Amino acid sequence: MLLQHDRAPLWENIRDFRQRLVAPLYCPGHKGGRTLPPELGEQWGGYDLNNLPDTDTLHCPTGSIRQAEELVADAYGVARSFMLVGGSSLGNMAAVMATVAPGDTILVQRNSHKSVVAGIIHSGAIPHWIVPTWDSRFGISHGPSTAAVHQALDQNPQARALVALNPTYFGTVPDVTTIARLCHERRVVFIADEAHGPHFRFGQQYPVAAENAGADLVVQSTHKILSGLSQAAVLHVCSPHIDAAKVQATLQSLQTTSPNFAILASIDLARRQMMQEGPGRLSALRELAIDTRQELAAMPGLACMGPQHSLGHGSGFHALDETKLLIDTRPSGWTGGDAQRFLNREFGVQPELSGSGYLLCILTVGTLRRDLDQLLTGLRAMLVTSPPSSEDLGALNELAGRVAESLPEMVMSPREAFYRRQCAIPFDQAVGRISGEIITPYPPGIPVIVPGERLDQDRLELLVAVKRAHSPISAVDPSLATLRVLE
Ligand SMILES: Cc1ncc(COP(=O)(O)O)c(C=O)c1O
Repeated sequence: MLLQHDRAPLWENIRDFRQRLVAPLYCPGHKGGRTLPPELGEQWGGYDLNNLPDTDTLHCPTGSIRQAEELVADAYGVARSFMLVGGSSLGNMAAVMATVAPGDTILVQRNSHKSVVAGIIHSGAIPHWIVPTWDSRFGISHGPSTAAVHQALDQNPQARALVALNPTYFGTVPDVTTIARLCHERRVVFIADEAHGPHFRFGQQYPVAAENAGADLVVQSTHKILSGLSQAAVLHVCSPHIDAAKVQATLQSLQTTSPNFAILASIDLARRQMMQEGPGRLSALRELAIDTRQELAAMPGLACMGPQHSLGHGSGFHALDETKLLIDTRPSGWTGGDAQRFLNREFGVQPELSGSGYLLCILTVGTLRRDLDQLLTGLRAMLVTSPPSSEDLGALNELAGRVAESLPEMVMSPREAFYRRQCAIPFDQAVGRISGEIITPYPPGIPVIVPGERLDQDRLELLVAVKRAHSPISAVDPSLATLRVLE
């Protein structure tokens, strides 16, 4: 078959998408350049530079990159900050790899992002998974309770590090202050994945920032909520117990040698914006979220997760970043996927993601009231329209809960399995085999199975159900016709 080289399908697709889009309720935080200086937003190409004598070098900065990093560190009140052009994915990998050695035990919240698993694979550490708190009310997992962290530390006195999210994709946070204290009492390094919390430090009435709460290493996606361009992120070294030189060496081994300077500059600008206007902007944003939640509460057929749903002090849902709108569509009979498609096609509203029974909208520094008005208009129209499909979401929720609250058998370390000889086998022959790959519905990027784990019926069924709901599956064969297992 002859391919059409006069076409540029990706370019054409994103150009069409932009023309259709009215209300961007997803990351990046600048929402189509609204919060970027116009010359950066409009002249991307001109700012795509190289490591030159005049521009400084990301791997060994001594000039303006170094100065920008010092300002970031000062803004966040930490000892050292590294700018990243590979997102929090790179930051998580580097944080893990700089902290643990092959054979070391690392305690990890199971609903961590797949980049944490990548760090575990490449470091050779042995994970002890901490089972997150499943919330059947919304069909999502929260962080670990302090009791679960306590137990994991007691069971693993040899542990070197612990990874927890602050917050989850959905904005819920555990009690990071207590988690940091528990870790420090045992000399365990606390790595906080704060990909979705780069704004916490600057906002009042937001959850506590991990860097304020005593975390040792903190990873943040500047592009998610602040004005960074996609891939803009930072890795903060917060405590003197961390060897910053080791972190730097790890980043030098992982990070591209050709960083995009527009991305780097956007971190510098996002930091300046937060230092100059952060508290005001963030409090206005929170008010906008609260107003929208009130409007949603008045719509029969929808429910929106709010601070009143907290599971209490010290629980995995200790507090909430209210700028995340998790909208439960189940009472209306709409699945999350159908609701997302309806809003997109009919109203140009694009949520960040949909789950089987919910939509997640992410509000950021670039969000305007008109985006949320458009969301509410679209939802009102949806509620008077018959849902295009019906599914037994109760059974799916139950299955997802069983998977979230249980751990598969870990037969060998993720590293050993990843580097062993593997083969592809038909999906329906996979039960009982040992996975060679990370399999992750995306978004939210939380692995259902990691290398070295035995594939079981529940996990395979869940993958099929998630795929049926049109969620992309990040796996070597995204069609799920085959899976990679150990030979
Ligand atoms: C909790 C969490 N950590 C890390 C990441 C990776 O961040 P990035 O997309 O900046 O690489 C994500 C991405 O969605 C995430 O949700």
